[in-house]
Amino acid sequence: MKKILIIQGPNLNMVGIREKGIYGEETAETIEAEIVDYAEQAGFDAQVYQSNHEGDLIDRIHAARNEFDGVIINAGALTHYSYALRDAIACVNKALPFVEVHLSNIHAREEFRHISVIAPVCVGQIAGFGKASYFLAVEALRGILK
Ligand code: DQA
Repeated sequence: MKKILIIQGPNLNMVGIREKGIYGEETAETIEAEIVDYAEQAGFDAQVYQSNHEGDLIDRIHAARNEFDGVIINAGALTHYSYALRDAIACVNKALPFVEVHLSNIHAREEFRHISVIAPVCVGQIAGFGKASYFLAVEALRGILK
């Protein structure tokens, strides 16, 4: 069975509490359980990793190389400026495809969110569909990993 890792970056543990008008009322735990469920229905073994720390996310990305077949990543605000995270993805993305996701449509928000420094090292980006962004990313990985 193919294994996928769902990486949740800074402040994504606060979904359901933070800016509900943007991110909705459903808690991070509920959404993450639904993503794992969806991925399992799609035939994947799925795990979620959340961290608020850039270095921990980088370590997890490096280690994922030998453990997973694909990664879905919501890097939170690090998306917009973390060259270190981008380089970490670039270290492993030859063997491990990354799909970038966002709950909100980052292109319709503040200008600083319009840039994703990780987009060039990911296969593609899905943004603006709430939790369905993750479901669509599972579908993307299903196509990529078949
Ligand atoms: C986000 C969008 C980012 O701009 C923001 O910093 C987040 C969440 C999203 O899922 O819409 O933390 O990645």
